Amino acid sequence: MSWTIQPLHANDLAALGDHLMRLDATDRRYRFGIAMSDRQLVDFAQRCDPERDIFVVLKRGARIGGVCQLSVYRDAALLPVADLGISVDATSRRSGWATQMLRTVLNIARERRVTRLVVQYLRCNLAMAALVRSLGDVSEERHGAEVTASFALPTANGRTRVGETG
Ligand SMILES: CC(C)(COP(=O)(O)OP(=O)(O)OC[C@H]1O[C@@H](n2cnc3c(N)ncnc32)[C@H](O)[C@@H]1OP(=O)(O)O)[C@@H](O)C(=O)NCCC(=O)NCCS
Repeated sequence: MSWTIQPLHANDLAALGDHLMRLDATDRRYRFGIAMSDRQLVDFAQRCDPERDIFVVLKRGARIGGVCQLSVYRDAALLPVADLGISVDATSRRSGWATQMLRTVLNIARERRVTRLVVQYLRCNLAMAALVRSLGDVSEERHGAEVTASFALPTANGRTRVGETG
């Protein structure tokens, strides 16, 4: 059986917690910005709501090997924007899975008329820096070790919406 990219279902939350607990201490800090215990990761996974956020997972049978989450909210101009969180099992990295999951969630985000993607990552996270670069025309702000990258999501017809920044 091979890995496939699928939507997250409510009955996947335990397997999602297992994936997050396989991340080592550095990966956890890269993903969440802070140290996360196993207990906190299980709680985080249990609170994930596929009805609220946009999720896709990398799945083989019941096992989850990666997840890409867009948390959608309104910015100061009341436009819908999305924060990205992404992780892949260490054993499945550098095979393009994060790139593919990101493409999939961005298509869903465009359909939902999300105007902008925001990605926060640490400068030393070279994999994330490469993933962000692959998105194209990104504007970046640096605050010490942290980078906030932002880029506009064109609509399905390629146009930029009025009031969009990025
Ligand atoms: C970031 C992460 C999701 C990338 O997953 P992945 O499946 O290995 O990524 P891909 O295979 O799609 O590669 C994406 C790009 O990153 C590059 N890359 C991957 N790992 C890299 C590394 N260790 N060093 C440098 N570049 C790397 C790839 O070459 C590719 O760039 P390219 O398109 O120019 O060739 C994975 O490393 C991870 O889970 N890290 C821990 C959690 C994390 O950092 N999350 C990000 C913050 S939300």
